Amino acid sequence: MKSLDKKILVTAALPYANGKIHLGHLAGAYLPADIYVRYQRSMKRDVIFICGSDEHGVPITITAEKENTTPQNVVDRVHLQNKATFEKCGMSFDNYSRTSLPLHHETAKEFFLAFFKNQILVEKKEQQYFDEKKQKFLPDRYVEGICPVCANPEARGDQCEKCGSYYNSTELKNPKSKLSGETPTLRDTTHFYFPLGNYQKRLEEYLKVSNEREKWKDNVLSACKGWFNDVLRDRAVTRDLDWGVPVPLDGYDNKVLYVWFEAVLGYISSTKEWSKKVGKENLWKEYWHDENTKYVAFIGKDNIVFHCIVFPAMLMAWNDINETKYVLPTNVPANEFLNFEGQKFSKSKNWGIDVDDFLSLFPPDLLRYSLTMNMPEGKDADFYWKDFQSRVNNELADTFGNFVNRTFTFVFKNFEGKVPPVSDALSMVDDMLVNHLDWTTSRSSDALEKYSFREAASCIMELVRVSNKYFDSNEPWVTVKKNPEQCATTLNLCLQTIRTLSILFEPFIPSASQRIWKMLNLKGTPSEAGWESASKRYLEVGHILNSPEILFIKIEDETIEKILHRMDQPTNDSSTEFTPIPSGLGVTNQRTNELTNKPTNLPAAAGEKTKITIDDFKKIELRVAKILSCEQIPKSKKLLKMKVTIGTEERQILAGIAEHYKPEDLIGKTIIVVANLEPAKLMGNESQGMMLAASDDNGKLCFVTTEKEMQAGSVVK
Ligand code: 2FM
Ligand code: ZN
Repeated sequence: MKSLDKKILVTAALPYANGKIHLGHLAGAYLPADIYVRYQRSMKRDVIFICGSDEHGVPITITAEKENTTPQNVVDRVHLQNKATFEKCGMSFDNYSRTSLPLHHETAKEFFLAFFKNQILVEKKEQQYFDEKKQKFLPDRYVEGICPVCANPEARGDQCEKCGSYYNSTELKNPKSKLSGETPTLRDTTHFYFPLGNYQKRLEEYLKVSNEREKWKDNVLSACKGWFNDVLRDRAVTRDLDWGVPVPLDGYDNKVLYVWFEAVLGYISSTKEWSKKVGKENLWKEYWHDENTKYVAFIGKDNIVFHCIVFPAMLMAWNDINETKYVLPTNVPANEFLNFEGQKFSKSKNWGIDVDDFLSLFPPDLLRYSLTMNMPEGKDADFYWKDFQSRVNNELADTFGNFVNRTFTFVFKNFEGKVPPVSDALSMVDDMLVNHLDWTTSRSSDALEKYSFREAASCIMELVRVSNKYFDSNEPWVTVKKNPEQCATTLNLCLQTIRTLSILFEPFIPSASQRIWKMLNLKGTPSEAGWESASKRYLEVGHILNSPEILFIKIEDETIEKILHRMDQPTNDSSTEFTPIPSGLGVTNQRTNELTNKPTNLPAAAGEKTKITIDDFKKIELRVAKILSCEQIPKSKKLLKMKVTIGTEERQILAGIAEHYKPEDLIGKTIIVVANLEPAKLMGNESQGMMLAASDDNGKLCFVTTEKEMQAGSVVK
């Protein structure tokens, strides 16, 4: 293990705020980044973990058009949704920002203007596809056609998903507008271009030198080599769109910065936001403006060109013209793709499972562990439900859980739940285990330093196997009578090993690690104790333990069979959607309906109803909630169906307010819900909460909200 005093800046690709995070996203960028950061924190290094929502770009405007709402409504909803999902699966971001924030717009404009003023950008007149019917230019994905390279008939305007080629949309064959389905015409427009080719030599050198300093992954190097085989072409950095960061120049109305030009700068603006939040406005500079910073950018393979070529070139261009220099990525450990049961994840084909749905079926540690062991580090990998089940059952439950459980049970039965004494003279077998603690700590650390997450987790799991064998071969159930001193030593070393495992597994399965830490009755967290203390035998003789609890519950065959059966259903059948396990806390909106159905002209005198005690009132659980999405229930004049977050979970709530609010006007709003009523079904939809609303003297309903912005889940009393 090497010491490191430099600052570490870790970023994970900013996901588009136009859809849910699925398992492939997690395995590609976020999980490896989180494991790496947690490990660095455990090593007591100065590390920050930066991410946020990418809220501009054509995918978002297309979603808004499909949903007949505004891009702002889409990103407000999805940002909150994805942020909550990341929290649920233990992503330990220091900051999760949004590119629609003014701070980000200012940052992006600053870069653009610096390039413009220093004549780095080239303005070109060109022809762009235009939808005559909709009177709109059709940038990027707004046009579809036949790929000029591989003849894929479903190629997008900017990129072919099948062969991975990037091209100008005018090169597409048989182009069609995504807005109207019509064949577009060509119209003149002007755009600013970034001359990537001017930086090609330096980019090649940068990659070479960086790779010599710290090995880059082969898949990343070979993707970059592919790009360098050709001369890098100028890249347009503006678009004819009305959603995005406006071009900060007069006479350029209806033009915005290209999403990729500004999204990568989101890493900088998110760090600035973090600085402000921690009360040190300039702290971000200590990471971005220090050439010694180790900057690691975690991404999936589809983002390689933007992070290894475009972003470094932009930073080089900035550094050429400014006193304050930005640090370039030290490494970009991109993962390949994770497929789902043999096919690509696909939203349109309804293939795959998103993280939220997964976490409503299984705890996050199971997902984190199975994805780590199957991470697409060097090549694509596949998620199979059966593999997931066998990893959980055989490795987490039968191997790890069993070792912890048998050790604790034995100590409670034979040593009053206290750490037994250890002999001064260890046997060869004891020594082997002790050495294995050291070896695993340092080998898994080496693996993590080189972004080999599978190797690190496998090496720690191997220690569990060795420990189980140690337990078996020492036969404490025999020595407890025949050689109590040896028995005590065996159990002491097993407990020390459990402490080691709790620290080493923390980056991978943080909540199980913390539970073990509690069972060991230790203060703080495994990470606070620190990686470098992992192999030390710090449990004192006589230290009192807490009683054991089951760490991992095995997954029944029947559960997996059910999931697989649902996958076999036709995709247009709504029953194929994964049904979340009911939380049992759902509530109805019957009172709201009652209110809607019987609007009174004048409020009844207050206090008319039967008096209740404070204890009666305390039985009602009121929570602050945020509306994530909202839609009209078909065939109902009154009912709206909303998805709300109450902090730790999402609920579906039906409310009889359709005559008072448009669904899109409610998205992002803060409301108060009764969170502990029995669930009820209304027009075939379950309502799991009741929204509080007041009616005015015309019977118009107004929802109840908080005086200032509050976090979803806050208790109302
Ligand atoms: O692929 C994506 O989801 C992009 N939104 C990633 C952007 S990474 C960075 F540029 F912000
Ligand atoms: Zn193609």
